[in-house]
Parts: sequence; C-alpha cells; structure tokens
Amino acid sequence: MTSSGDPPPTRKRVAVLGSTGSIGRNALAVAAAHPDVFEIVSLSAHRNVELLAEQAARFGVRRVAVGEATPRRPFPDGVAIGRGRLALERLASDPGVDLVVNALVGAAGLAPTMAALRAGRTLALANKESLVMAGELVGRAAEAGGASLVPIDSEHSSLFRCLRGIPRTEVAGVVLTASGGPLRDIPASEIADAGVDAVLDHPTWDMGTKVTVDSATLVNKAMEVVEARWLFGLPFERIDVVLHRESIVHSLVRLVDGSFLAHLGMPDMKVPIQYAMFYPDPPGGRFDDCPPGALGTLHFEPVDFDRYPCYGLVLDAARRGGTSPVIAATADEVAVAAFVDGRIRFGEIADVIAGTLSAVAPGDAPDVDAVLGAEEEAREAAGHVVGRLAAAPSQ
Ligand SMILES: NC(=O)c1ccc[n+]([C@@H]2O[C@H](COP(=O)([O-])OP(=O)(O)OC[C@H]3O[C@@H](n4cnc5c(N)ncnc54)[C@H](OP(=O)(O)O)[C@@H]3O)[C@@H](O)[C@H]2O)c1
Repeated sequence: MTSSGDPPPTRKRVAVLGSTGSIGRNALAVAAAHPDVFEIVSLSAHRNVELLAEQAARFGVRRVAVGEATPRRPFPDGVAIGRGRLALERLASDPGVDLVVNALVGAAGLAPTMAALRAGRTLALANKESLVMAGELVGRAAEAGGASLVPIDSEHSSLFRCLRGIPRTEVAGVVLTASGGPLRDIPASEIADAGVDAVLDHPTWDMGTKVTVDSATLVNKAMEVVEARWLFGLPFERIDVVLHRESIVHSLVRLVDGSFLAHLGMPDMKVPIQYAMFYPDPPGGRFDDCPPGALGTLHFEPVDFDRYPCYGLVLDAARRGGTSPVIAATADEVAVAAFVDGRIRFGEIADVIAGTLSAVAPGDAPDVDAVLGAEEEAREAAGHVVGRLAAAPSQ
C-alpha cells in the first residue's frame, strides 16, 4: 500500500539469466534503480555462485539456476536451486515471470530463448547466439507464443528504436557500426600473434570476455548482421557494416531516398538494457547526461575485411543456412575459450572455425533438437581441431 492508500502499482516480475555476467549485472543495476517497476524473481549463473548468492540475497530471490556440478553451499535455506539446461528453461517459461532477460553467453542461451518465447514471455535478448544458431526457429516461436522479443545488443536496440513508426516501404536497408575492436590499429602482420591482454582491451565498450574476443575477430559483427537479418526480416544484401571508431552512432537506417536516420549515444549498455526492460513503456531514467558537444567528432570508414578472416567464415556459413551457422558459432565459442586459456594463438581462431566447418557435414535445421545435435557434433570436432593446433610445435 502507498501512503495515499492507493494499491501498489504492479511490478514487472523479471528473470535475469546470466545475472553474474556483464549484461546481467547491468540489468540488475537497472532494476535496482527502479524498484517500483521491477521485481527480480529468479537469477542464474554458471560457476560464479558466490556472486549469484550475493545477488539472490540482495534482491530477495528464491529461485536460481546454476551449472550442472555447482555446490549448494553459498545459498541460504529457502532458495530453490536448479541445475543445467532444464533449470534455465524452467526459469524462462515460469508463469510467475513477465520479463526474461537472456544475458547468457554462447549456445547455452538458445534453449531458454525458445522456452521463454514459446511460453509467451516478453524476452529482452542479449544472447545473439540464439539468433545466429536458430533465427528462423526463434522467430516462429515468438509468433506462436505471441511474445515480444526486444533486442539488447546496442546496434539492434538502436535499429529497433529508429524503425518504430517508419513505413517499411521507406526503408532501403540498415547499417551496423563497428568500432573495429581492440586490434583495429595494430599492423596486419601482428594480428595473428596478438596476446590475450591486448585482445581483451576494447577501445570503447566494457563487455564480457567472449564478446570482446569476438569484437577483435569481427565474429561479433558477423553475428550482428545475422541477428539483424532475423530481427528485422531483412535480406543480407540490405545490411551493411561501417567502421565507426567512436561507437557513438550505434546504427543507421538507410532510406529509399538515399538519406539516413541515426541513433546516437554514449557507449553504455545500460541504455539499451533499460530500453528493453521498460518496453513497451518509455525508458525510466537517464544514465549519461551527455551535452551534445560531448558527442565529439564522428568518423565513418569502410571496413578492411581482409584483416578479419573470421568475419567471412561466419557470415558465409549463415548465408548457407541449415546447421552451418550452428557449426560456425560453436567452433568460434570453443576457439575463443582455447585462445583465452592460452592453448591456441589468436590467428588460429579462424583455423578452428574453418577446420570445424570442413569436418562437420551441414544439414537442415528444422527444429531445436537438430540445432542442438549439430552443436554437440561441432563442439567435439572443434575440440579436436584445437587439440591438433595446441599439440603442433610453435613456429
Ligand atoms: N557485454 C556486453 O556489453 C554485450 C553487448 C552486446 C551483446 N552482448 C551479448 O550478451 C550475451 C552475454 O554477454 P556478456 O558479455 O554479459 O557475457 P559474460 O559477462 O561472459 O556473462 C555470461 C553469463 O552467462 C553465464 N554462463 C556462461 N556460460 C554458461 C553456460 N554454459 N550455461 C549457463 N550459463 C552460462 C555466466 O555465468 P558465470 O558468471 O557463472 O560464468 C554469466 O552469468 C552474449 O551473447 C554477448 O554477445 C554483450
């Protein structure tokens, strides 16, 4: 009850999957800034149970999901703990949840995406791998469940906002901006041997490990092209990428008369996260009170794709369709982990993707089981490619 005697406004009941990660922590910061709007009802982590337990206590959460082998130790009595994929699917389709924030990284995000959409939950989606691996199935699940899917990725959030209210007949295409990633200024001859610290030092965005490495290979941008293709129903030919070092313009809509619409803002993921969490209501708060002069000078250049062999590998796989993008995305996930663990060189991430695409026969992807079957096969094949590369004498 409020002091005036009015009933309390209904709060959105939110599940944050991947709450211990970069996007997940920012989603909780948005919720904490608006306790009258959001009630956090469930959370998940993979291994970081200490932080998860602390988040559960802070938000009074009674349901969490963790990885298969995680101990119960840090959680107080009264917190229900589920393990593995099924537990994530249960949290995503929980009838006691209005909004699911999918902030999981990698292929693990697909099953909860499908579960949330099939159950008709509103889905704020950061996990781009869901759309790369199974964009068509995700779209069909949203339609069948009558669910809203709101992107969190900054480029797609800004396109989502720019495209609202424009007749589709006025849209010629979209342009995604790319910062060029952490290695954009090092000589091409040094890229293959770039070290982990250099690769994780992103010039404009503060993000999780995998997406930062994916920014350095430009796999991230290839995945974003695929994401745009499914989110906005555009053919690949109508999606461009431009190098924009400042990461102030998040995307452009190209109109049929040759002019552009743009969405600008400081690179802060809380802005698109907040937009997705409030949607369809207007976003609730300002994060960066940015005077227009602080936007600075903006540059746009063509991307030199020759510096980024992984970009073409992932995008070509997506164009082929079926399970090819599943194989490419899974190989990338395995390769990134191997690079961060010091088992392969940065330049060998492309070898793992190419080697896995050669080793695994692609097929159709009529349903999620086929996608997850291809993922399992690709994970094993990519592991073998990594093993061979790691065992080879270094040059
Ligand atoms: N970070 C950004 O600014 C940003 C921007 C745009 C898009 N995205 C996209 O958002 C997604 C999340 O990115 P992030 O940077 O937030 O990732 P992150 O910091 O690595 O966090 C990932 C979250 O997923 C959990 N997780 C990891 N592996 C898992 C598994 N196998 N099963 C279940 N849970 C697992 C992690 O738990 P633990 O902490 O216990 O490992 C953590 O909670 C990615 O798809 C990324 O491409 C991120």
